[in-house]
Amino acid sequence: MSTLAVYPGSFDPLTNGHVDIITRGARLFDRIIVAILVNAEKAPFFSMEERVAIARAVFKDQPNVEIDTFDGLLVDYLERRNAQVIVRGLRAVSDFEFEFQMALMNQRLNGRIDTIFMMPAEQYTYISSRMIKEVFSLGGRVHGLVPDTVEDRLREKFASRRSVEGTQSGASEGVRS
Ligand code: PNS
Repeated sequence: MSTLAVYPGSFDPLTNGHVDIITRGARLFDRIIVAILVNAEKAPFFSMEERVAIARAVFKDQPNVEIDTFDGLLVDYLERRNAQVIVRGLRAVSDFEFEFQMALMNQRLNGRIDTIFMMPAEQYTYISSRMIKEVFSLGGRVHGLVPDTVEDRLREKFASRRSVEGTQSGASEGVRS
């Protein structure tokens, strides 16, 4: 029997920590699906289409890595896909409490599914998507912490935001003068 694993998350954006876990998962399982959560309530920085395109570009040469989206309960998605394993990354003890709750809730919802925790390489243990966005937005360097395509897209997004803000402040200055 082949083992199908699902690595769920927001991936807003994909970091090299995520890439490391996916690469390790692809060695361990026959197939791994990167399942990006469609979360209508949260306003993501990168659209769903952008997040899917980024992940597809990064894993284009890995045939046993699939990129997909899901909404609703994670265990229902696994059931639909006939997958057996949820992969989650653990970076530090601080991740443990939430991950433990989530794993036990998922186990209660569907006892056929198991959660496997994987550690990223040491150099990625402190990275989070939230921190990448914050550091980049404040002019900090994120090179080596995210795939190059993410860095390029961050640059484009912030450049277009700045030009919109520049236009708006220019317009309001015009009103004041
Ligand atoms: O990258 P994230 O934001 O830590 O991922 C969280 C995610 C997507 C794994 C989690 O929010 C999730 O599984 N959501 C789907 C809804 C669900 O199944 N909830 C019950 C499990 S607690």
